[in-house]
Amino acid sequence: MDLPDFPWDRLEPFKTTASAHPGGIVDLSVGTPVDPTPEVARRALIAAADSPGYPQTWGTPALREAAAGWLARALGVTVPADAVLPVIGTKELVAWLPKLLDVRPGDTVVFPELAYPTYDVGARIAGATGVPSDGLVTLGPVVPKMIWVNSPSNPTGRVLPPEHLRKVVAWARERGVPVVSDECYIELVWEGPKPLSILHPDISGGSHEGLLAIHSLSKRSNLAGYRAGFVTGDPAMVKALLEIRKHAGMIVPAPVQAAMAAAYGDDAHFAEQYARYAARRGALKAALEGHGFRIEHSEAALYLWATRDEPCWDTVAYLAELGILVAPGEFYGSAGGRHVRVAITATDERVEQAVARLK
Ligand SMILES: Cc1ncc(COP(=O)(O)O)c(C=O)c1O
Repeated sequence: MDLPDFPWDRLEPFKTTASAHPGGIVDLSVGTPVDPTPEVARRALIAAADSPGYPQTWGTPALREAAAGWLARALGVTVPADAVLPVIGTKELVAWLPKLLDVRPGDTVVFPELAYPTYDVGARIAGATGVPSDGLVTLGPVVPKMIWVNSPSNPTGRVLPPEHLRKVVAWARERGVPVVSDECYIELVWEGPKPLSILHPDISGGSHEGLLAIHSLSKRSNLAGYRAGFVTGDPAMVKALLEIRKHAGMIVPAPVQAAMAAAYGDDAHFAEQYARYAARRGALKAALEGHGFRIEHSEAALYLWATRDEPCWDTVAYLAELGILVAPGEFYGSAGGRHVRVAITATDERVEQAVARLK
């Protein structure tokens, strides 16, 4: 299979440099949660530890109802609980979705120019061609087999305006192309208007036909280690995914399903986590700007998209000398060659260290 090189290996020498800093490394290169898994989810996981039987691929009713309830409360999106399909973390779904939707060799899959690399991996697994593009008109006569959108974006933290999403949906519907919206950062917004889900009536026009939204508990609820997310939207598409996932054994473990139901039923832990990230983001943003960086977009998600107007690897090397490790923008597409992605997912203590070193 034609898979890309794993780019993170190229960061290793800079990790070594940063680790040699007397105060230790501040690793802001990955967006992995560092705060405790909420008590409410842990308790539910433990209570479901005795799980001798096979779990259901489409999840327990409690899980589906909790996810649908959260969509309604948090995002103003109404879906029937039956249209919720749990996944084993959303990376799994992103990587396999083109294949599961019967995308084939010769087909194209469109994703953002600056994007989470797994959209491209998914196109490759299906034997299709990934096309990074932010403007559908530039595609010419090619009609893709599916279109990814990701707002708020990894890596830029950009929120797409509702007009943009409406245009994508209209363009795709005219051509019968499914639009899949990766919404794993949708509640993590720091500035500006709240992002709308692709399933929100203001975007979808009230029908979910041809639309899927993907949600993850990794970031919202510090559940990355449990591998927990779900997909919802067009009931016919969800049903088709359920059928193949049943055959393929793509099943979320029962204790994790219980933890998911608990996490989607609780907003208090998210409010706490949101406040932690908001404080870290504010401190890091001010420190980087004070140090001469320009921060672009970054109104949402767990990243600051920063530049010193120089090649990204020069910035990576410069920050590594300060003991701070960041990801080169190039990892997310050639348009990122002069930016770095700074994750805000470090402990308060590590963030304070970074801020002190940037003073
Ligand atoms: C845009 C985007 N989608 C999906 C994922 C995968 O998240 P998970 O597999 O933890 O649900 C990530 C993780 O960083 C991401 O940034």
